[in-house]
Formats: sequence, C-alpha cells, structure tokens
Amino acid sequence: MAQYSRVSGTVGLITLLNPPVNALSAAVRQGIVDTMDKALSDRKVKSVVICGHNGKFCGGADIREFSSPLTGPPLIPLIQGVESAAKPVVAAIEGVALGGGLELALGCHYRIAHSKARLGLPEVHLGLLPGAGGSQRLPRLIGVPAALDLITTGRHVTGAEALQLGLVDKVTDRNTVDEAVKFALSVADQPPNSRRVSTFPCPRHPDLDALFEGAMQRVRQRARGALAPVACVQAVRAAATLPYAQGMERERELMATLFTSGQARAQQYHFFAQRAVGRWSMPSGARWDTTKPGAVHKAMVIGLGTMGRGISVALVQAGVSVVAMETNEKQLMEAKQAISSMLERGAKRRGVAPALDKIGYSSNMEPAADVDLVIEAVFEDMALKKKVFQQLSALCKPGTFLCSNTSGLDIDQLASETRHPELVVGMHFFAPAHVMKLLEVVYGSRSSPQAVATAMELGKQMGKVSVAVGNCRGFVGNRMLKPYLEQAFFLLEEGTTPEFVDQVLEEFGFAMGVFRMSDLSGLDVGWRVRKADGLLNASEGHSARIRQGCRYSPLGDLLCEQGRFGQKTGRGWYQYDKPGGRVAKPDPWLHGFLEKFRTQHGLVARRIDHQEVLERCLYALMNEGFRILEDGIAAGPEDIDVIYVLGYSWPPHRGGPMFYAGMVGLQKVLERLEHYHQEHPDIPSLKPCNLLRNLVVNGSPPVHKWREFLKKPQSQL
Ligand code: CAA
Ligand code: NAI
Repeated sequence: MAQYSRVSGTVGLITLLNPPVNALSAAVRQGIVDTMDKALSDRKVKSVVICGHNGKFCGGADIREFSSPLTGPPLIPLIQGVESAAKPVVAAIEGVALGGGLELALGCHYRIAHSKARLGLPEVHLGLLPGAGGSQRLPRLIGVPAALDLITTGRHVTGAEALQLGLVDKVTDRNTVDEAVKFALSVADQPPNSRRVSTFPCPRHPDLDALFEGAMQRVRQRARGALAPVACVQAVRAAATLPYAQGMERERELMATLFTSGQARAQQYHFFAQRAVGRWSMPSGARWDTTKPGAVHKAMVIGLGTMGRGISVALVQAGVSVVAMETNEKQLMEAKQAISSMLERGAKRRGVAPALDKIGYSSNMEPAADVDLVIEAVFEDMALKKKVFQQLSALCKPGTFLCSNTSGLDIDQLASETRHPELVVGMHFFAPAHVMKLLEVVYGSRSSPQAVATAMELGKQMGKVSVAVGNCRGFVGNRMLKPYLEQAFFLLEEGTTPEFVDQVLEEFGFAMGVFRMSDLSGLDVGWRVRKADGLLNASEGHSARIRQGCRYSPLGDLLCEQGRFGQKTGRGWYQYDKPGGRVAKPDPWLHGFLEKFRTQHGLVARRIDHQEVLERCLYALMNEGFRILEDGIAAGPEDIDVIYVLGYSWPPHRGGPMFYAGMVGLQKVLERLEHYHQEHPDIPSLKPCNLLRNLVVNGSPPVHKWREFLKKPQSQL
C-alpha cells in the first residue's frame, strides 16, 4: 500500500509501504493511484514527493506476482499518470530504486538520490526487459550508450554515479526525503511540462547502426542463448529510432514474448532459489533462524596457492583480519605480491583504499593460536590435510573453527584428527575464490550447528551465496560433475570429437564445453584423484575399459601420461600456441590418437548426434542430482540448482539442472535414461534413480513440491 500525508504545508508526501523492499505489489500500485489522486485534487498541495518506507525507495515489481494473472492497476498507465500530473512530482531515492522502482522514478519530474542509493534496471537477470517504459525513457534521459550498458547488464549504479550519468538531478548525503521535500517546495511553482522524460527526443548518436551492431554482438556472446539481453538491445533501438508511442508498443511486444518464455520462469526461480538456500537446516533439526554464528574477527588461511590467495583476498575485502600462511618460501613471496595486487585492483574498482594492513604473512603455524577461524587450502592430499588438522587442533585456542577448502575429501576424517570435531566444517570455494559467488558449506556428522552457521555467515559477509550440504565424495557440485565428465569421455570413445561435444554444450549455454573446461582447470587434477582412488591400472585379465566392475575411460590418463595437462602445458584436448595460451585449436594429433585408441580396443566409430551428446551428458548429471536429493546430501532442488548456476556456469536462463529436468519433463528424462542405460548397462550412472521414478509415478510434480518426496538431509559416506 501507500501512505499519504501533507508536509511543510504544500507538499503531498506519498510513502510506498511494502516491507522489506517496497515492491510494487497490486496493493502498492493501487495505493499510488489513490494517493496521487488525493495529492492532485488537494488544492493546498503544490508539489508531490514519492518515497519508500524504511529508507528504501522501491525494489521494483513484486516478482512473486509474476506467476499469477495481473490484478490491480497496471504499471505503465500508472507511471504515465504520474508523469502527466500537472503538479511537479519528485522521487526521493534512498536504499534502492530497481526495475519498476526506477521506472516509477523516471516517470517523476525530478529525482533526488542519496549518494549511496543503488539504482538500476536489473530485469535482464529475471529474463525480462524494463517493460514499464524504462527501455524508452532511460535512453531519452541519459543517452543511448549509457542506457544500453545499464539495461543489458542490469548493473546497479550508486547515487553518485547516477548523478554523473544524468539519471538523477541531485545527490545528497543527508536525509533524502527532507531534501526532496525542500526541493519540491522550490519547484512548486514551475509547471512540469518540460520535465516529462517521455517527451524528450532521444539524444543523437553519430553512428547508431555500428553502436547497436556492437551491442548485439556483445550480448549474444555473453548471453549464450538467453533471449532477454537481445530483446533489451532491440527495445533500446526502438527508443533511438521510433517516436515514444511506437517505441512503447515495441517494448510491449518484446516484453510479452519474454514474459511467457520458459527462460523468464527459470531466471525468476533462480532469484528466489538464491535466497531460499540461506534458510538452511541440518539433520539434527538445527536451523538458520535458531543458530547464532560465532564472531570471526581474525582468520588464518593455510596454503597460498591458487585458492588460498583468493580466499585471503575475499576475507580481507569482507573486513576480516587475515594471517596468510605458506610453508614454501618462494610461494610465500609470490603469494604476498599476488594478494597485494589483487587487493589494490579490487580497491581501485570499488573506489576505496586497499586494506593492506588487514593482512599479515607467516611461514609457520604459530599465529593459529590467536585466530577465530582457520581455512586450510593445502594440496588435495588426505594425509597432508590430516597432519595440518592435527597441528591446528593442538595450537588453536578453544572455540576456533577449523575449515577445509577440500574439493571433495571426507570432512569427518579431518574432524576425527581434532580434539573438537564439532568445530570442523568444509568451506568449498570456487576458483577464483575472490570472484566466484558460490560457497559450499559442508557439514560432517559431528559438525555443530554453530560451526555451520559461522561458515554460512562468513560466506555471506564475503558476498557469496552459501549453500549448506552434507558430507559425501565430491559434495554436491563435484559429485555431479563426475558422471557428466564420464559421459563426455565415453562419447569420444564411441566416435565423436572434443570440438563437437563442446559445441553442443556451449550452444546449450555453458560458458565452456567440458573439454575446454578440463583444459583450463588442468587434466592432472582429476588424474591425481583417480590415482589416489587406485583407478589407473586395469585389473589383470580385465579390459582396460573396465575398472572396479564398471565401464571406465582411460583417455584422460593416457593424455596425462603424454604430459598433456591442458592449457598450462600448451596441449590437452586441444592445442594452444604456447604453454598458458588461451585460444583452443583442434589438434590433429588428438584425432589420430582417438582413432588409434578405438582400433586398439575394437571400437567402431559411429555418428553421434547433437541430441545424444546433450542427453547423455546432462541427463547423467541430473540423475546424480536426484541421487543426491535421495541421499539427503542436498536439502532441496534449489540448493543443487544454485550450486550449478553459480559454481559450474550452468546457464541461468535454464534455471539449474533440477529445474531443467522439470522443464524437459521428468517422464522424458526417465525414458531417455532408461534407453541409454539399456544400451550401456555397464554405466551405472545412467540407471535412473528411485527418486526420479517416484516423482514420475506421482505425476511429475513441479520442482517446488519435490521436497515432499525427500528424506531429511543427512551426511553420508
Ligand atoms: N519482488 C518480490 N520480492 C522481492 C523483491 C521483488 N522485486 N525484491 C526482493 N524481494 C524479497 C526477497 O525475495 C527476499 O525475500 P525473503 O526474505 O522472503 O527471502 C526479501 O525481499 C529481501 O531480499 P534480499 O534478501 O535480496 O535483500 P537484500 O537487501 O540483499 O537485497 C535487493 C535487496 C537489492 C532489492 C534485492 O532483493 C534485489 O535485487 N531484488 C530484485 C530487484 C529486481 O530485480 N527488481 C526488478 C523486478 S522486475 C520489474 O520491476 C519489472 C517491471 O517493472 C515490469
Ligand atoms: P595449489 O597447489 O595451487 O596450492 C596449494 C598450496 O599449499 C601450495 O602453495 C603449497 O606450497 C601449500 N602447502 C602445501 N603443504 C602445506 C603446508 N603443510 N602448510 C602450508 N602450506 C602448504 O592448490 P589449490 O589449487 O590452491 O588447491 C588447494 C585446495 O583447494 C585443494 O584441497 C583443492 O582440492 C581445493 N580446491 C581447488 C580448486 C581449484 O580450482 N584449484 C577449487 C576448489 C577447491
């Protein structure tokens, strides 16, 4: 709803009231219409201020209402009504003005913002475009290039940047509503005719065609099949080339297409899923809202390789004091330099001073005695990690939380090396750790709720989306990656090429196909894990393509034996112009190697089509997701989907693997898995799991109902 009062004698003050972000629900929209009527019909009122309750202007349309038919006054005529008002209307922007909220402000005649307010049109992240006139008004106000940037990226700008762009008329560090009221008094006698943004001509640009071609190319490259960014460019083009009324018509058509697309549903699901994972629970019944996290003022990071450096930076940027520790002197020196320059770059981007004084370095464990939390990031080697945890347990003060960044080793085994296993949890970051938004928080069988709460809260403080998961090999993300990678290898054996598999996966929307990704992260990583698992040698009398009773592809191992570790060695599934090179080129050697391999093993290459690549890779991955749910390792499908979108570049416009399974149809996924499992009975990961069958038997309920079919979460090894 919206509240109305008259202040300073002649200013009508309208306050949007819908906590927590004053989203434009049907009731709020009705409230705006009613209170505007009041203000305009009150003869004592000379000007109007619109603000939001509790220091937040407006978080945009109420996304929860998108899934049901529209009720209440529609936004477009409402904003038109504000703009055409005969009395000056001033928007008092504090907190946020996003999406429909900013569009409402664009309909006002003046905009006063707090310097720290965040303004933006983030609809593109919800699979939409600014469809309440935003795509037509913004370019008229700030010019086409700046509008294209804001609308296609959905990025927020601060009040200060908004002033530079010409998006707001004035910025203040004081009480924004008071300033807006003062401003409204000062313009009370000025008719707002010349202030209606929809009547502005769109600023001319010397080469519109080149500008839009460039923008379209950029979004297509970034969007990876997403419709919304492309529609955003088309809508801005309409603003630049058509009169306002026709531009609005084009905006309406484009919005209608997006609104009913599966992509918008998927992205809105992702928006709510990211928030739902914060409401975690544990098998014991401990929950996010009943567990108090411990305070973390000072932390220690052990092992300053790829991960430890990024983790240290993320901690410092979150305001935590850090002792960064590394045994290898050369590595320590290099890490020091790398961390300082990452902190400097980050601070420059954010316009603040680098907090170099928040980090100290050590080549021994001693400082562990004085910290609240430790994150271990040494090599992925259980014996080494156990030793580190033993040392920490002896050194740390009582109550220090001990965390491991392991990619998949058993948290319970690490905990059992310590005197206080309840203080041990996994904090699985993703590379680069100061950039990637995902954190898997892994609770072992003895982890205390407080330890989990502390890791979850620390993740949030670092700007991450933290997902609590149970303890099993590979946790959620890497466990699901295994059958996906396996299928890709098997497909190569059966006749296809890395280029074709990658092309199919990239067309689906992944930033990188599985082989390019493997080249980037290094083939040797998986090789070492397989070695530790005793998988590298075939048992006597068995085919080289069977290990531990199941089908196995030795292709990755054979490449590693040749020193082909991927980008870092200049050769992997592709070739690169030099070690460390980034441009992947098809490698004739690899094709010859695959042919030889097939001949050696009596395999006849067959034609494998797009559908088979996609289904075998993705359905095997989804099937493992269902198993994870069945085992109670993830609490719900949202947890898996958030992990995949934020950690594994699953395209957001496809919601995540579990959401996507629902979009494809669970019945179809089940049938195709049955089909492939019949063709390949020696691949257990293709055997449809019971939960999937059960969901199909129960009529394939929508993804938000799956939890009704799940057991309570638990740790399982
Ligand atoms: N509609 C409905 N609910 C919303 C919402 C919205 N626009 N924005 C936030 N919420 C809800 C969240 O779901 C969350 O609910 P729960 O507590 O139940 O989980 C609650 O408000 C608080 O949100 P956050 O946890 O995200 O709080 P925050 O302080 O970290 O961030 C925010 C606040 C920056 C506004 C962030 O919530 C956000 O980015 N919201 C979405 C903004 C947006 O995309 N607006 C455009 C909507 S589409 C539109 O406007 C199109 C149109 O005109 C046609
Ligand atoms: P890395 O090889 O780059 O760095 C490991 C560092 O630990 C080295 O600098 C080494 O000198 C140091 N080290 C070894 N023993 C030590 C000890 N006893 N005390 C202090 N330092 C010691 O390894 P990376 O890639 O950073 O991985 C670290 C951990 O993070 C591993 O468990 C890995 O599985 C996990 N991880 C790695 C990811 C990646 O993409 N690289 C992603 C997520 C997790």
